[in-house]
Amino acid sequence: MPLQDTASLRVLRLICSPRGSDSESYRLSQQILDGLASQAGERGLELTDLDLNDLPHVDHDYAAALASPVEPERMHPGSALHRSDTLIRQLEAADVLLIATPMHNYTVPSALKVWIDHIVRIRITFIGTPQGKQGVLRDRPVHVAIASGGPFSGENARQPDFLRPYLKAALGTVGLHDLHFFAVEGTARGDAALEAARERAGVAVGEFFAMTR
Ligand SMILES: Cc1cc2nc3c(=O)[nH]c(=O)nc-3n(C[C@H](O)[C@H](O)[C@H](O)COP(=O)(O)O)c2cc1C
Repeated sequence: MPLQDTASLRVLRLICSPRGSDSESYRLSQQILDGLASQAGERGLELTDLDLNDLPHVDHDYAAALASPVEPERMHPGSALHRSDTLIRQLEAADVLLIATPMHNYTVPSALKVWIDHIVRIRITFIGTPQGKQGVLRDRPVHVAIASGGPFSGENARQPDFLRPYLKAALGTVGLHDLHFFAVEGTARGDAALEAARERAGVAVGEFFAMTR
């Protein structure tokens, strides 16, 4: 039996809400984790949690390296380039990426954007071609647990959704195309609406993992 069928399912979870494990998106991501655990079965699941809220912005040297035609010879520990290498290695080591994120101003929160700025890297995770950017990472499932104050999908949506299209484009750039979105929409609409939204999201997660088991 190939090694990948017997080793644990390695899940990298990005925690993007400033509310951390108290957040609604984290709560929904727990349900997705349960689905992944049942999918993994006897293989078991190995979870790495990464809270993005303390991730510093990319720096001067990082921007210069991305604009240069060659990679820099030396990277200082603690620099954004060094951090980028670590974050990319961590992503490469994962079988599944799980993103727990709120919607902030119609798109991803800045903490998640900072992570994306570190992992979308020319020559390392994508290459430039005459046809455009081409991702070089191995594709793998990406599950996205979203929480939003108001609805952003369906006929009740009264706001634009730049979150899902943006994540599809940004992660697609590095070669991750297998995205699955789940959402608790309308957390600011009172207890009854929140419960109904949680229920809908829970059913969607349950149905998805029942189908893929
Ligand atoms: C800075 C900020 C911006 C927000 N922008 C939006 C928005 O554009 N659309 C929306 O529906 N909710 C917005 N919200 C509300 C959050 O999406 C909502 O409270 C969500 O449940 C938070 O999820 P969390 O508990 O995972 O952090 C915003 C909240 C904050 C703090």
